[in-house]
Amino acid sequence: MDNIFGRVAALAGSQMTVTLTEPETAQGAVRIGGMVKARAVNLDVVGTVAAVQLNNGGPSLHSIFTIDLLGEIAVAADGRQQFSRGVSHYPLIGTPVYAVTEAELKVVYSPPLLPSIGIGTLYHNPQQTAFVLVNELLAKNFAVLGATGSGKSCAVTLILSEILREYANAHIVLLDLHNAFGDRAEVVNVDNLQLPFWLLDFEEAVEVLIRGGTAQEQEAAQAIILKDAILRARRRFAGAALATTITVDTRHHSRLPSCCVLLTRRWEDWITRIRRHRIFG
Ligand SMILES: Nc1ncnc2c1ncn2[C@@H]1O[C@H](COP(=O)(O)OP(=O)(O)O)[C@@H](O)[C@H]1O
Ligand SMILES: [Mg+2]
Repeated sequence: MDNIFGRVAALAGSQMTVTLTEPETAQGAVRIGGMVKARAVNLDVVGTVAAVQLNNGGPSLHSIFTIDLLGEIAVAADGRQQFSRGVSHYPLIGTPVYAVTEAELKVVYSPPLLPSIGIGTLYHNPQQTAFVLVNELLAKNFAVLGATGSGKSCAVTLILSEILREYANAHIVLLDLHNAFGDRAEVVNVDNLQLPFWLLDFEEAVEVLIRGGTAQEQEAAQAIILKDAILRARRRFAGAALATTITVDTRHHSRLPSCCVLLTRRWEDWITRIRRHRIFG
């Protein structure tokens, strides 16, 4: 092997420390984020360079690399190399460390046999697509973190779009408080949310239909019904031609009795629906 650049100096949990022995072969491989490997039993342990420092202790200066261990490349029964996450065997102290080859990089990042989506390319190797295992991603909790403007919303949009492209029948419920994704989705909000009555157990039905939460929440719920009635009354009075330009705040003539009739109708609607769904027997 001609690309040896260092030797294992220490191992602790998921990190390996490597001292540089061949500076001229370290070019490229030992940048932060670069991937390296070391032999352990009959497989290669691989990891990425997480930190580099110059050690000025001892007789000479030498660089020390901290490697985050990712997993192992082993030869499967069919003779092909396979990457698996996690480390089961550790290299011995003094084991040579090499930069991974292009072929090995492909093994680590190649589309796995499991369901996966491509979400971009590797920063260090733009030719290599980066894949995410869909089931692994969605079966666990995960977070997209970053400062404002760092691209979190774009990353989430990309992940969701790719999932939907690959799995057209996937159902995704998004709580989107700032309406950042509205144009791609069927939007459900307080104005159009419809809950089937059969979904409610008795306690919930009492909450919704009788008590309705705190006095403030009751006021808010009643305000929504009143808003709907006022809007309908104003639009009705304005006629079809103007209806779309009228909002609940438009100072347009309307009749209070008309509003009351609409409110009564809403109430009758509710009672009819409640009876139909036998909530009160
Ligand atoms: N990978 C990227 N490369 C370049 N620009 C990006 C990338 N991801 C997002 N952006 C841009 O950065 C800006 C902020 O992205 P956004 O996803 O809204 O950030 P956040 O949600 O973290 O506040 C947007 O203008 C977007 O076009
Ligand atoms: Mg955002």
